[in-house]
Amino acid sequence: MSHSDHLSCTPAVPREAQSVVFRMESEDTARLQRQSQPAVEQDFKVIKCKAAVLWTPGAPMNIEEIEVAPPRAKEVRIKMVATGICGTDIKSLADKELSQFCPIIMGHEGTGIVESVGEGVSTVKTGDKVIILCLPQCGECNACLTSKNNMCKEIRLSGTHLISESRSRITCRGKMVHQYIATGTFSEYTVIKEISVAKIDEAAHLEKACIIGCGFATGFGAAINSAKVTPGSTCAVFGLGGVGLSVIIGCKIAGAARIIAVDINKDKFAKAKTVGATECISPQDFDNPIQEVLFDMTNGGIDFSFEVTGNPEIVATALASCNKDHGVCVIVGAIASKAQLNISSRLFFSGRSLKGSILGGWKTKDEIPKLVSDYTAKKFSLDPLITHTLALDKVNEAVQLMKNGQCIRSVLLP
Ligand code: APR
Repeated sequence: MSHSDHLSCTPAVPREAQSVVFRMESEDTARLQRQSQPAVEQDFKVIKCKAAVLWTPGAPMNIEEIEVAPPRAKEVRIKMVATGICGTDIKSLADKELSQFCPIIMGHEGTGIVESVGEGVSTVKTGDKVIILCLPQCGECNACLTSKNNMCKEIRLSGTHLISESRSRITCRGKMVHQYIATGTFSEYTVIKEISVAKIDEAAHLEKACIIGCGFATGFGAAINSAKVTPGSTCAVFGLGGVGLSVIIGCKIAGAARIIAVDINKDKFAKAKTVGATECISPQDFDNPIQEVLFDMTNGGIDFSFEVTGNPEIVATALASCNKDHGVCVIVGAIASKAQLNISSRLFFSGRSLKGSILGGWKTKDEIPKLVSDYTAKKFSLDPLITHTLALDKVNEAVQLMKNGQCIRSVLLP
């Protein structure tokens, strides 16, 4: 990003927000004076720009002018270039519990360019191409220090939709604006923690790579890391949205011999075959339960099955489709947190297993950039997943396209 790009977003502070903003500016000036040798030239001013703001769950998002304050210690201000709309955004948009966090900027997968960094930031600098990490990697907690999981303790911030204990750096009409999953990517600029952003290749295609940050990494990693799909195996994927198709890509790259794609929407089948499904079936075409159909098709059950619909009832179906002795079922879709699973104990009589997976099991800051490099090296394609690309101010149309099942992934260009 050029310096002139930044200056085009001239600071313009509404009267209500002035006290907050001016306090931040004086603190930042003092900080700058303390820094004897700033690593890069950067401009610590409030940026006035546009974002899609949700004021009430269930209502459309408003395109609003927001003020984005400079990053503080260990924070990064980013000019967003592209952001995908994920199924989780869609579900949350209507979630009444989100009202306590409104106004809020939605969106949590995206790519951009670092505009400025706060004190102590060492892993990215102004001008770097970066990807947003909706699951951070602090590098210090028990989860980050073990190779066994990726559930960084700083994920707790996502529950409050703030980047630190009590604040975001964003205001709108004088009110503090929350950032969905401590990111909030439906915006021209954002400020997030350094642990939630990773530098990616200079050659990365930002408009497409943005979906690697959540949807692709979640599905692809569920196959590669969580299930550990083996060469020659048989897989079944329930739900053929952007995440389910990414699971199929992972199964294929892992060498699965059969990949059976299952969805109630047959319009999804052509795309599933494009990315690697060997067969596609709809439960509605059979009199028998789909798990019995899959058992018959595979002479004893699936090796690896994946629940990617977000429907708790399909967890039991996907598990029952597995081989009774060694089948592994991975829950990939975000199931509502209060939902109960109704699963018969007889399904565990022998050696089946059921497991969860978060963001594909990746150590995000270390490994998501490698996924971006693999994409740049054409080891897989994202083209089949991105069906629509729209300007940020078309955000509500993009949501409607997803809701109508008319698209796999929409990418917004702020
Ligand atoms: N049986 C089979 N397929 C189903 C069923 C069902 N009972 N119910 C829904 N589906 C299919 C839908 O037709 C759709 O194609 O599941 C797919 C879900 O796709 P998307 O809504 O596009 O969701 P996606 O973005 O892929 O995310 C999948 O992961 O991150 C979570 O919240 C997200 O729960 C969602 C899941």
